[in-house]
Amino acid sequence: MILLEYRIHFRIKNRNLPILIRKKGAAAMQYTDIGIDLGTASILVYIRGKGVVLKEPSVVAFDRDTDKIKAIGEDARLMLGRTPGNIVAVRPLRQGVISDYKVTEQMMKHFIQKALGRKTFRKPIIAVCVPSGVTEVEKKAVEDATYQAGARDVKIIEEPIAAAIGAGIDIAKPCGNMIVDIGGGTSDIAVISLGGTVVSASIKIAGDDFDEAIVRYMRKKHNLLIGERTAEDIKIKIGSAFKRAETDYMDVRGRNLVTGLPKTIRVSSEETEEALRETTAQIIDTIHSVLEKTPPELAADIADRGIVLTGGGSLLRGLEDLIESRTGINTMTAEDPMTAVAIGTGKYVEFLAGARDEI
Ligand SMILES: Nc1ncnc2c1ncn2[C@@H]1O[C@H](COP(=O)(O)OP(=O)(O)OP(=O)(O)O)[C@@H](O)[C@H]1O
Ligand SMILES: [Mg+2]
Repeated sequence: MILLEYRIHFRIKNRNLPILIRKKGAAAMQYTDIGIDLGTASILVYIRGKGVVLKEPSVVAFDRDTDKIKAIGEDARLMLGRTPGNIVAVRPLRQGVISDYKVTEQMMKHFIQKALGRKTFRKPIIAVCVPSGVTEVEKKAVEDATYQAGARDVKIIEEPIAAAIGAGIDIAKPCGNMIVDIGGGTSDIAVISLGGTVVSASIKIAGDDFDEAIVRYMRKKHNLLIGERTAEDIKIKIGSAFKRAETDYMDVRGRNLVTGLPKTIRVSSEETEEALRETTAQIIDTIHSVLEKTPPELAADIADRGIVLTGGGSLLRGLEDLIESRTGINTMTAEDPMTAVAIGTGKYVEFLAGARDEI
């Protein structure tokens, strides 16, 4: 009797032990320590257990004479358009293209170190979400830069997948979801099912183009020259993509193109709707083209579940209504559209491991 008990115990122990050890080992591999959303407008760093710890503009200022970096992030953004001759402030990832590897690498290093603080006991696993327009060579450059910055392992992730996970969509299900990520430089439209992208499109028209459209409108309509930062201000304060019940106004200062003197005019939200019409229409055309290429079963899922918007550009008022009115599909914005990609990037590896566990 005693012997039997012992044997049973022993057998259970023996059977369980290796599994437990394996599970523990696997669990350690499952997590990304850091997720980075390497956006054209901003960089966000997500740390497991802490959430998004850093959000700064992807801008670098450097001295043209010595090639030395002067400032990175918010400090550098303040220098945009205001730098003396030898200092230039650049966005190394403008429009989803890495214009300068070296600068991008320095920028990544700076933000990873800043997010982690000085004390790191163990090299982290880092997942990076790159703008969808980047080439394989550019992806490799980001990967190398991340290793250079001290990563133990690097995963490069597609933006729509990260956006979907961050928006709380269970992408592992065999069910179609449409995600529209409108960032600064690029808009990514994708239909996702079973953890992969089924149909997608990416256009270099997004939030920054809204600003440019406002600059053009002010010049044409009011003979007023304004900078991109003022245009962004207008967009954020009163900008609208769709007719609204009430009209908002804002006083805008710029330079009169005829007299060359400063001038202030009052701009209405209705005018912004007019200014943005062409640009928003391009995004909607792309949504249409993706819907057209979507297999019928998945299209039916999307009609049921709706379209989800992420990215800072989706914060433009009336965009949901506009998309809804042009597609006839219920459209909603993710809870925190600007951090969705960073959170999704951080959780991607956990998600992959979870999906594998379920199978
Ligand atoms: N409240 C707001 N209303 C409208 N637009 C906004 C608002 N807040 C931010 N934006 C815009 O969001 C854009 C930046 O979004 P986001 O940070 O998602 O871009 P990104 O991820 O860096 O770019 P990309 O995904 O193209 O690489 C900018 O164009 C900014 O002007
Ligand atoms: Mg983005």
